[in-house]
Amino acid sequence: MLRTHFAHHPIYEQLEGQFERLLSNRRVEVDIGKAREARAIALIGASGSGKSTAINRLLTKTPDLILPEEGQDYCDIVSLIIPSPATLKSVGRAILEALGRPLRRERTTDAIWELVKAFLQERKVLFLHLDEAQDIARHQTPKEMQSVINTLKSLMQSPSWPVGLILSGTPGLKDLLNYDPQLARRVFPIELPRLSPLGDISEVRTLVGFYSKEVGIPWGPETIASDVATRLVHAADREFGLLIEITIDGIEEALHSGASSLAIEHFAMAFSRRSGCIAGLNPFLADDFERIDVRKLLGREGEE
Ligand SMILES: Nc1ncnc2c1ncn2[C@@H]1O[C@H](COP(=O)(O)OP(=O)(O)OP(=O)(O)O)[C@@H](O)[C@H]1O
Ligand SMILES: [Mg+2]
Repeated sequence: MLRTHFAHHPIYEQLEGQFERLLSNRRVEVDIGKAREARAIALIGASGSGKSTAINRLLTKTPDLILPEEGQDYCDIVSLIIPSPATLKSVGRAILEALGRPLRRERTTDAIWELVKAFLQERKVLFLHLDEAQDIARHQTPKEMQSVINTLKSLMQSPSWPVGLILSGTPGLKDLLNYDPQLARRVFPIELPRLSPLGDISEVRTLVGFYSKEVGIPWGPETIASDVATRLVHAADREFGLLIEITIDGIEEALHSGASSLAIEHFAMAFSRRSGCIAGLNPFLADDFERIDVRKLLGREGEE
């Protein structure tokens, strides 16, 4: 139950507001038959910040948004994860699959993208969401990078059927957006900021308090007094989504051990289960926890 709860945050409201505005503009343009260039939203954040969760929420909670379904002719948005390795050809092919029109025989890259544009128009798709969009910028030569950018721009600028983009990805996505000023000026960037170990502590306490109360396991008195919230922020590498994940893992440990209140050792157990690290590298146990690289699995003392 806790894992299905969506915790609202200001960046989500910003994403929702921006998307609703682009969507309603685009709908009016379609109604009056005057196509303008479409725009893009880029949602940027580190791994575990909550990008995919936020977009998923946006797609399922936006009223009247038609998602692709079997046997349905039209849809407002098509969402996919960029395939790996990402080439212009593999991305085009993946979009065709997401549109329900997989390629039956080999085609050139240009022919694939002509089909992509034709099927986006045929299905009246208003937006295309590409998750892990930083991968399109990875390992590309400058020439390949420019052709990826030109292709993305041409989707938004198509005179007959412009398609808006939602790109979500890690900070490497900024390289792609900033590579070309014509692309950059068409994008509304939204960044999921890292948590601050000082400024966000009271929000973190409220969030953990909410989750623990939901299952009737409140914070223990010594946990309230301790610096568990600061340790939690560090254990989550200051990422919002990871913080929620570790909080729920800690509550799960407390539930399994039959505890009546949530204590720091439950978070310590949860962290050690996730990372396989020794106690000295557990941010809930170590004194100098700020030096610990919490992303590292199976950490051992003395290792680089
Ligand atoms: N708003 C939220 N409310 C509740 N849980 C969240 C929220 N945002 C993220 N999470 C949780 O945080 C974890 C990481 O989120 P998510 O997969 O969306 O991150 P991401 O930014 O897409 O990471 P990656 O770049 O690795 O794909 C998930 O377990 C998810 O359930
Ligand atoms: Mg993701």
